[in-house]
Order: sequence, then structure tokens, then C-alpha cells
Amino acid sequence: MTIQEEVNKRKTFAIISHPDAGKTTLTEKLLLSGNLIRSAGTVKGKKSGKFATSDWMEIEKQRGISVTSSVMNFPYKDYKVNILDTPGHEDFSEDTYRTLTAVDSVVMIIDATKGIEAQTIKLFKVCKMRGIPIFTFINKMDREGREPLALLEQIEEVLEIETFPMNWPVGMGKQFMGIFDRQHEQFVKYNGNEEETIIPYNELDNPENQTLVEDATYQETLGELELLDEAGDEFSLDAVLSGDQTPVFFGSALAPFGVQTFFDTFIDMAPNPNPRKSTEGLVSPDKPDFSGFIFKIQANMNPAHRDRVAFLRVCSGKFERGMSVKLARTGKTIKLSQTQQFVASSRDTVEEAYAGDIIGVYDPNAYRIGDTLIEGKDNFAYDELPQFPPELFKRVTAKNVMKSKQFKKGLEQLVQEGAIQLFTGYPMETYIIGAVGELQYQVFEHRMKHEYNVEVVLESIGERIPRWLNLEKVDTTMFDERNMLVKDREGTFLVLFKNDFALRWFRDKHKDVELIDLFEVN
Ligand code: G4P
Repeated sequence: MTIQEEVNKRKTFAIISHPDAGKTTLTEKLLLSGNLIRSAGTVKGKKSGKFATSDWMEIEKQRGISVTSSVMNFPYKDYKVNILDTPGHEDFSEDTYRTLTAVDSVVMIIDATKGIEAQTIKLFKVCKMRGIPIFTFINKMDREGREPLALLEQIEEVLEIETFPMNWPVGMGKQFMGIFDRQHEQFVKYNGNEEETIIPYNELDNPENQTLVEDATYQETLGELELLDEAGDEFSLDAVLSGDQTPVFFGSALAPFGVQTFFDTFIDMAPNPNPRKSTEGLVSPDKPDFSGFIFKIQANMNPAHRDRVAFLRVCSGKFERGMSVKLARTGKTIKLSQTQQFVASSRDTVEEAYAGDIIGVYDPNAYRIGDTLIEGKDNFAYDELPQFPPELFKRVTAKNVMKSKQFKKGLEQLVQEGAIQLFTGYPMETYIIGAVGELQYQVFEHRMKHEYNVEVVLESIGERIPRWLNLEKVDTTMFDERNMLVKDREGTFLVLFKNDFALRWFRDKHKDVELIDLFEVN
């Protein structure tokens, strides 16, 4: 097979949703239909603990939320699917955000009983802003939920995106009768946990369907459907692929109902790996030389080995186990020998991979998030990964000063992994860490203790607004606790403003000082 043919088979996407919307259930059903697991309940192992591959997942277990982004590769029909699981908790938006740079589309699951929930709005918006095609699955139709039209309206309003219902539900909860599959012109009858019955539109008049079509809810829905056909937006694959329209599917992951049709349609429509932006312009996925970038580093996936795994998205060429590649940042050559793929709860060695594939490579402490790996004579780097602005800041010290060596090592590694952002005070060298949410600190504390054997003391300096300075030297008398001067990892000065007021005050007083917002998402 040519590289292009391989690329055409790849579908790489993330499932994004609010915790409890049904991501695990849906993923399980997909794996089941691909015959990858024998019974449901083995993906996350919330209860069985089978997937507890590292000790910091203790937090995940305790809190019942998904802290890590896991990856799964599996064959589905003619395709090779890569699913990236993303934490739905707002505290982990930083990690999630980076994961989104490695996918070509997303599946957004919404709980019909709740609609879009506040915590996940930011995450959905990031997808919209980045122009990632969004496919929506409205789950739990077997429960009493919100009106379908109200759900669509909410999606349109919050995401500023057009919706196109691919199917339309008849009733919900106890009255849930099934869906009109608009694409295939058929009615799909809901039979509880039993298999669904498919009735083509032109057979609905047959006598055996009389009870169904005479039902009041059915009749009412027929009216809605006509309205949608006449007044609703037109379906446009182009608009879907540019992220301006989202196809919406109603169903139940648990039953399962509507899952197979959803996935079959999704997998056909979802984009293949696209060319990626780099310092040398767009890099095509069928370029013969291998290239890829690291979007996540995870330590201690296997506690017995204390290993670090870097997650790499292949962007071009063919990856082969044992090949030598160049790390663009340093120019150093690295042999990629220990590589893995992730299928449900197991990790297999990967022999070859193509654009769109996500593989785990052993990290000998050489990689940073955003690093580009390339084969051949080329020298380019993929676009830097965007970061979410940290909003909460805390000063951190080691409880026991004798442990400062481990403390520094832990800090350094966790920063490199992207688990936290580190700043140093100036001129007094104190350590300040920034995070998007409180939970990140809990993970940080836990990992420092269990992986580096250091207890830390965290002292909050509250929410802050970071602004960078374009200055080599600064007059330190201009700063105090309200506008705190610190340096980032690169040694660039920035100011952590206590609030908007402090920012405005500073701006008025020092009109000649340029304040740069590095995190402006565009
Ligand atoms: P998550 O990964 O997005 O956090 O959600 P998960 O799949 O774990 O689902 C959260 C809860 O919602 C689970 O119930 C699950 O069974 C239920 N659920 C998922 N899809 C549907 C659906 O289509 N209909 C209904 N009625 N429920 C659904 P739980 O009680 O928290 O866990 P469990 O005891 O069932 O495992």
C-alpha cells in the first residue's frame, strides 16, 4: 500500500464531554462492535481498576474523573481508528487543549438530560475556535431529557455553530420510540436493550406499523420533522469539515441505540489526516520522510519501571520501529526503539505507523511537549502547541530543605511534562507555579510526594493575570505584590497582576512599557 492509501484509512479523533455524559459507555460500545473487547466495563475500569496503570491514577479513582488522556488504536471496518480520550474536567483543560492539537476531528457527547454543562463550554469552544470538525452525539435518550429543539438551540448559541440533525428522536425517556434516520430515510425503532428494528420510510404505511404511526407522539414529531426539512439548515459536508456545522445524532450509548449508525456515518465523514503547518510551510501526510510531534508526556505509566512515555502524533511518512530520527529542537539523533500502541487496556509494540497514528515512545528524558521529530535531511518544526493561560498561582517550597535536589528534579520534570507551568520570582528566586484549576495542584502535590519523595508547601497568591514584558532589564522598584515580577522558563520577564484594576493602574502609570498577552487564543 502507498503512504497515501495508508493515510486515507486513518481517522484520528477525540471524544469530548462533561464527566458522566457517557464517554466511557460509548467508547466501550465502539470497541465491542470492533470485537476488541469481549464485554463492556473494561475500558476505564472505574470499578474493576484494571486500567489503573499508574499510581497517580489514584486521584482519578478517588474523584471518579479522568485525569489522563489515554489513547486507543483499533481497526474498524476498513479504517484504522485512533481515539484520544480527553479529561472532561475543566481543571485539566491545559492537557486537553494540547490533545486537541493531535486530532483531526472530535466527537462531542452531550447528556440529553443536562444539555451543555458549564464546565465543558471552554473545551467545546476551543474546538470551535481551532476549526476542528465537531460531530455531536446527544446521549441518554432513554431518559427524560430536554426538548431536542432546545438542545440544538443551545449548541448553536454557545458554540456559534450551525446544527444539522442527522436523525430526529420520537419521544424520550419512557416514551422514547426511536428515531427518524434522515440520512437513510428510515425509521429506527427503539426496543429497549433489544436490537433496534429498521423500517424504511416507504414501509411505514404497512399494516404492521399502524400502532406506531398512529401514536400521538409520533404524529407530533412528524410535524417537527417536516419543519426541519423545510426550514432547517441544509446539510453541507464542506461546512462540517470547516467546523461551521455540526451533524447531530440522538441515541443511547447504554442501550445501545443509534450508536452503530452514528459511528458508521461519522467514520465516513470525518476527515483524514490533513497537512500540518510547520516552520517550512505545510507538510503533507504523504511526504515520504517520517515526521511527527509530541503533544503529551506521561511519567510512570508503569509504576514498576518508572518510565516516561511521550505521545507522538505521526504527521508524515512511515514510522518504523528502531528508526533513527532527529529531534528538531536540538538537532540530536534519537533511535525510536521502544514504541507502543494502545488498545483498550493493553499496550502493544508498534512496528509501523502513518500520519494520524498516535504512538507512545519511550522518553529518555529528552523530549519536551511540542517537540518535532523528523527523518532525513529536512529541518523544520511543527507549530508550537498553544497553552491555556494559567489563572491560579501558588508559591511552592519543599517542606524539608534537605530535599531541595529532589524538589528541583520533580519540578523540572513535571514542568517538562506540561503538568504545571513554572515561574521564578525576581530578584528573589522563589518558585511560583501556575495552573488552570485547583485539581492540577492536587495532582502536583501527590506526584511530588509519591514519585519524587518530596512533600511540598503550597501558598496561594490567588488568581492572577499574566502579561509579558519585552524588556531585557527592568527597574524592580516598579513592582510589588499586586504586580509581581517573575520570569518564565525561557527567562523572559512577566508580570502577574492581581486583578484588572492593578493591570489598568500599571498601564496608566507606565505608558511606555508594552504588556503582552501571550495567551490570546486566536
Ligand atoms: P463518562 O465516561 O462520560 O464519565 O460517563 P460513563 O460512560 O461512565 O457514564 C456515566 C453514567 O451514565 C453511567 O452510569 C452510565 O451507565 C450512564 N449512561 C451512559 N450512557 C447512558 C444512556 O444512554 N442512558 C442511560 N440511561 N444511562 C447512560 P453510572 O450509574 O454512573 O455507572 P454504572 O454503574 O452504570 O457503570
